[in-house]
Amino acid sequence: MEPLAVLATAIWAMLPAYIPNNVAVLVGGGPPIDGGRTWRGHRVLGDGKTWRGTIAGVLAGVALALVLDRGHPWVGELIGAALPGFPMAAAVALPAGAMLGDIAASAVKRQLGRERGASLPGLDQLDFAVGALVVAWLLAPGWAATVLTPAVVVTILVVTPILHVGTNALAYALGLKDVPW
Ligand code: CTP
Ligand code: MG
Repeated sequence: MEPLAVLATAIWAMLPAYIPNNVAVLVGGGPPIDGGRTWRGHRVLGDGKTWRGTIAGVLAGVALALVLDRGHPWVGELIGAALPGFPMAAAVALPAGAMLGDIAASAVKRQLGRERGASLPGLDQLDFAVGALVVAWLLAPGWAATVLTPAVVVTILVVTPILHVGTNALAYALGLKDVPW
């Protein structure tokens, strides 16, 4: 694959994993997933992981994947690179994996004594991408084997933190997020 095609594939393949967190920020609220429970003196997940945000985020990611699946031939033609489609298993795995990775990172942060919203550089920027990649390999191995080549995976791990920092700074500037990370 050409370098530009690798970059286009990496971003395109991860769009259904990027959307859930942003939707969760917009609609999050209501009962927390951990129900307020604590473990070893810390909240299990904290008030920043809600049912509403998680479900809405996953649904939005699945919906986007299905739209992108319809559009991949002509968008690919437009930019001159073969972009991947999203079979149902991948359409579900990417957003569900992204939210799972984010939730798992919150559990780790709570046990490290970091309150809701505290940053943990590295983990915050990659938790959802790693979650999406792992769950995609588990639920959609055939899709992952063809789309997630080593070059694409490396590109995802480099580009994701940059996009994440950028969108969070924007959400903070727009007053949608309390902290810029
Ligand atoms: N959110 C949600 N459910 C999720 C993820 C996010 O409702 N599964 C919403 C919450 O309102 C949350 C906001 O999106 O406060 C920002 O998400 P995130 O940065 O992941 O959460 P934090 O509040 O920073 O909490 P944490 O320290 O656990 O990451
Ligand atoms: Mg956070």
